[in-house]
Amino acid sequence: MATNEFISTNFSTLGLTKTSFTCKAPSNIALVKYWGKEKDQIPKNTSISFTLSACFTVTTLVISENKNPNNFEVEVIFEGKKNEDFKPKISAFLERIITYCPYLKNYKLQIDTRNSFPHSSGIASSASGFAAIAHCIMQLEKQLNPNITTKHFIKKASFLARLGSGSASRSLEGEVVVWGNHPEIEGSSDLFGIKFPYKIHDNFKNYHDTILLVDKDEKQVSSTIGHSLMQNHPFAKQRFVQANENSTAIKNILQSGDLKEFINIVESEALILHATMMTSNPYFILMKPNTLKIINKIWAFRKTTNLPICFTLDAGANVHILFPEKDKIKINEFITKQLIQYCQNNSYICDRIGLGTK
Ligand code: DP6
Repeated sequence: MATNEFISTNFSTLGLTKTSFTCKAPSNIALVKYWGKEKDQIPKNTSISFTLSACFTVTTLVISENKNPNNFEVEVIFEGKKNEDFKPKISAFLERIITYCPYLKNYKLQIDTRNSFPHSSGIASSASGFAAIAHCIMQLEKQLNPNITTKHFIKKASFLARLGSGSASRSLEGEVVVWGNHPEIEGSSDLFGIKFPYKIHDNFKNYHDTILLVDKDEKQVSSTIGHSLMQNHPFAKQRFVQANENSTAIKNILQSGDLKEFINIVESEALILHATMMTSNPYFILMKPNTLKIINKIWAFRKTTNLPICFTLDAGANVHILFPEKDKIKINEFITKQLIQYCQNNSYICDRIGLGTK
């Protein structure tokens, strides 16, 4: 695969000894799920996501001179405190990207990061977290080589973010991102995410995602283990074919604005994700009783009102409720009156489709 274009060769570190770069990167929610990968986050199928806005990470990368380039130094600060827990994952990420960003060896790095959502909310911060770090690194690269284009900047930022966490490759841009090579989606690649390359129907403008926090505990299954379970999964082959078919379907729906079909594909993708976990070995059930209660309430409400509300799930018990801007008053009322009671400490986050990194 053509990874050479991401190796930075034309840079000068002369004169740049100490400075800092900041980025605010959003989380994203997959409509078609990424579940199954090869080494270095090469996905087994295409995934398509809505970029979010209220759930984000803000990261500042502080660089200072490193007198001993053979010794890579990084310090991680999370929510104002020195953090050793995230250090191994970040160090592994830096080792993975050093071929592409050799200038990093010249600096000591301090990564100071915080999330807009509580760490213990069951919302994964790896997507926004790695997107933010990758963007900061690209800001440094741009300083060392001002000739790089905006297009290359964002493409490489997504490429680097992917090497930290697959879904992070989808958190650089908005409002819809495609990651994973697909014959019917122009410019799509396994190496980086791209902005959805077609006009999106107005039905999806300001689309809402209200996240119901059903279970705030640490994930039972890390995504790395989850993805590896797809390797010997009896239904894997068919799942990857289906995900690519669903990507074609979502591609068409996003342009036509067909909300009925949107609901059908999005809910089906969420349930398939959980079905693959239930049918892997070892097997897991990540939904909680309240997850199912919420799903049933949504279905009943949709049946009686005909409003285009639907749900999706990540690899956990929390429920993302998706709905159009035009129906927000009635749907918000339904959520607060009938669903919040199923959340841990009545917690939920009102998010919506967003524009990407800043
Ligand atoms: C269920 O991106 O967290 O959220 O590449 O191992 O870091 P790694 O996995 P990660 O997987 C996300 C899986 C998912 C579906 C999705 O976001 O597409």
